[in-house]
Amino acid sequence: MSETIDLSGRRALVTGAGRGIGRGIAHRLAAAGCHVAVNDIDPTTAERTAAEVAALGRRSAAIPGDLARVADVHDVCDRAADALGGVDILVNNAGVSLCRAIVDCTEEDWDRHLDVMAKATFLTMRRLAPAMMARGWGRIVNLGSYVAQMNSTTRFFGPYCAAKFAIVGLTQVAAQEFAPSVTVNAVGPGDVDTEMMAREWEVEGERRAMDPAAVKEEYRRRLLLGRFERPDDIAGAVLFLCSPLGDQVTGSHLIVSGGLPFRAA
Ligand SMILES: NC(=O)c1ccc[n+]([C@@H]2O[C@H](COP(=O)([O-])OP(=O)(O)OC[C@H]3O[C@@H](n4cnc5c(N)ncnc54)[C@H](O)[C@@H]3O)[C@@H](O)[C@H]2O)c1
Repeated sequence: MSETIDLSGRRALVTGAGRGIGRGIAHRLAAAGCHVAVNDIDPTTAERTAAEVAALGRRSAAIPGDLARVADVHDVCDRAADALGGVDILVNNAGVSLCRAIVDCTEEDWDRHLDVMAKATFLTMRRLAPAMMARGWGRIVNLGSYVAQMNSTTRFFGPYCAAKFAIVGLTQVAAQEFAPSVTVNAVGPGDVDTEMMAREWEVEGERRAMDPAAVKEEYRRRLLLGRFERPDDIAGAVLFLCSPLGDQVTGSHLIVSGGLPFRAA
């Protein structure tokens, strides 16, 4: 017996999908049969991912927009629904991260994190969930993080951590409000080898007067499973939650972290 995940004809919006994890999610959803609208603040990368989706034979649309701006969020949702004829799957992936002590963070740092991640997740769900419920089927996956749970590895990530906890809380409430036709879950990555992590290795290197490559290797050595995650590892969890295999999962924060915050001995 063989089994493949078939989401043929489903229409997805993935935010922040110009690179990194979001791009990996767009690829996986398209490979499973979804049409995909690709948002990013960077129009060039949004176009690139949309072209990659189209090359897999699916409908796609690049929908640039800054999710820190309420008007852009509404516009992105409406243009995605127009381009694909509706949105059945919403993946709130766009994110920013700053490795900075709370006492050094500005109000703008706080606002940027909360706006791009927590507030945009609230706004996209508010905009798109009613039509999903009216049609009787929808899947929403929000990017959480392994840091949005009790752990001791979150120094220097105050606004980031606050935004991710907000997303997990919002996910739990939305799961209750949108049931039974729409499931709402979060996926919590660990250390995924993307530009976001590369910046962290650089900042940490500056702080400790170390080569970023040495910082990266130090991070790798603490991983229980021995390697950094790849965008595709996270995309697999998103695909599971959108597939029939995940039909009975809602309100969860699925930690896909290579074991973090547990550390290798
Ligand atoms: N990389 C990790 O280890 C890790 C760990 C836990 C959670 N996450 C989460 O996964 C998600 C993706 O992270 P990543 O590692 O791919 O990061 P990344 O920085 O490589 O990519 C983030 C994408 O979001 C886009 N973006 C940023 N601000 C935006 C805005 N205002 N509007 C629209 N798009 C915007 C960027 O242009 C970029 O394409 C984020 O929510 C992040 O917090 C990542």
